[in-house]
Amino acid sequence: MTTLTITRPDDWHLHLRDGDMLTGILPETARDFGRAIIMPNLVPPVVRTTDAIAYRDRIMTALPDGSTFEPLMTLYLTEDTDPADVAAAHASGLIKAVKLYPAGATTNSASGVSDFDKVRPVLEKMAEIGLPLCFHGEVTDADIDIFDREAVFLDRVMDPIRRANPDLKVTLEHVTTKDGVDYVNAAENMGATITTHHLIITRNDILVGGIRPHYYCLPVAKRALHRDALVAAATSGNAKFFLGTDSAPHIDPLKESGCGCAGCFTATNTMSCLAHVFENEGKLENLERFASLNGPAHYGLASNADKITLRKSETPVEFPAKIETGAGPVTVFDPGFPLHWHVAE
Ligand code: NCD
Ligand code: ZN
Repeated sequence: MTTLTITRPDDWHLHLRDGDMLTGILPETARDFGRAIIMPNLVPPVVRTTDAIAYRDRIMTALPDGSTFEPLMTLYLTEDTDPADVAAAHASGLIKAVKLYPAGATTNSASGVSDFDKVRPVLEKMAEIGLPLCFHGEVTDADIDIFDREAVFLDRVMDPIRRANPDLKVTLEHVTTKDGVDYVNAAENMGATITTHHLIITRNDILVGGIRPHYYCLPVAKRALHRDALVAAATSGNAKFFLGTDSAPHIDPLKESGCGCAGCFTATNTMSCLAHVFENEGKLENLERFASLNGPAHYGLASNADKITLRKSETPVEFPAKIETGAGPVTVFDPGFPLHWHVAE
């Protein structure tokens, strides 16, 4: 097969940042994707309805002329979030989800949740009105090994919250372990996003033969058996698993540093990478489910009306090594193998 036409994909977990970075990287997503769930971890975070309205306006202003890309906004859950504000933002159609970061789990998560009892009223309200919760699934306890933080989270945090709120729809964001895949498979009312890079790299890619900061993200990539469980879940067509790239740009000086930031920037070549992974598994026919159909179904939205066509060429496709933004250069994810598929139209 050398041509594949699918419903236009969406990205159910995306960091667009703000200012010159937003302007520089937004075209990379708007080129191929119809919509994206926009993460609210700005500094300061997008906490209230008024913040989300203002951020949405800045995104719309930064869009290239003629683009029909639609940002799907989220609110950042804090211990002070007012359930009534969340409900009003949902009722107005402004937001499609609320994001919960355990405090300190990742980039710009200092205002996240430490005491889960404090957010119980918001979670109850969300369950009542059918608003999904996007959960960064890692504990932050200093004594838990970073490679175990997702698995421990499922037991200690996710399970009690889901038991207390069985009607709450939950997205386990950027699942990175077989434990997470197994948990989501067994759970009612739950789905998971899988990133582009977690379908490709393992922790060896970060650490063997020198430290490679552009592969460092959170949750950190795990050993191969976990990567392989993610590939099996994504390529299976199972409706619980869908694309959330977690494309998370940081300028190169902040990545290539003595204390480098977490985040892989995959917006530019995600569809090419995914086509490669799905073809390798003999599952190209399920790419549309993963990238275009399962996500909207989870969020109760229609899939996009238009299509894209991917083509496979003999010679590898060239992507820029970096996107030059007004904020500085951002290195594009290198899958470590040549890419032959590209979005042709
Ligand atoms: C994200 C970021 O940079 O905002 N970083 C990352 O490694 N994924 C935050 C996040 O989603 O954890
Ligand atoms: Zn993210």
